[in-house]
Amino acid sequence: MRHSIDERDARRLLGGGPVALVSTAWRGNHNVMPCVFVTPLSIDPPLIGVAVHPSRHTHDMIKFSEEFAINIPTRELLHHVQYLGSVTGAELNKLELTRLPTFRARRVDAPLLEGCVGWIECGVHDAYAIGDHTLFVGKVAAASVEKDAFDDTWLLDDPETRPLHYLGINRYAVLADMLEARIPAPADIKRDVEAGEAQVGDEEEAARRREERESAEGQRDRG
Ligand SMILES: Cc1cc2nc3c(=O)[nH]c(=O)nc-3n(C[C@H](O)[C@H](O)[C@H](O)COP(=O)(O)O)c2cc1C
Repeated sequence: MRHSIDERDARRLLGGGPVALVSTAWRGNHNVMPCVFVTPLSIDPPLIGVAVHPSRHTHDMIKFSEEFAINIPTRELLHHVQYLGSVTGAELNKLELTRLPTFRARRVDAPLLEGCVGWIECGVHDAYAIGDHTLFVGKVAAASVEKDAFDDTWLLDDPETRPLHYLGINRYAVLADMLEARIPAPADIKRDVEAGEAQVGDEEEAARRREERESAEGQRDRG
């Protein structure tokens, strides 16, 4: 049964992306906040967008320092992520309070968080006011990964090294299985175009339907 939901909640249908812990540094102060409005925007140059509400302390930290880092946490940091999103660095030093260990980034002053499985260091390339958020477009200056967690994609071998995803409210998830899709060969696509039907899912079912159609066409031609 279908039912309508509030327009403001439509974003939750797109939930499930990896949570980014956005870390920043400005004049000797450090801060970190979880951010889920994060998206790749360009491959070359490599650009990544993070949408940050102007009320966040992180907003000004990025605005003034013109850089930020993205840290990708695992389930080990589940409760830390929620905590870091419930308090503001304008009032307290979150890194000191949570005692989360950090290490130096290669290209930015923002600290990188231990216990994460991916890190992206960005310089601010552009900033746009979009609705009630500011989209900071970061140009990737360096990126690194935990080898067991990522080769060309997330590996998902070990539940402890899977990135943490955000569903909304205080609900999170980790991906369960990697599914490898069949890549259609040019010959398959040619066959499908000629048959007028793509054999994408169940090949046996597609073959059965094709036989039925051919037999119906045969009967029509004979009749
Ligand atoms: C999982 C999660 C994702 C969030 N994503 C965003 C986001 O994309 N943009 C944003 O402005 N705030 C987001 N927030 C809210 C901020 O993280 C929260 O307001 C935080 O306390 C701001 O910290 P700061 O004031 O120290 O920057 C998110 C919170 C959580 C828990």
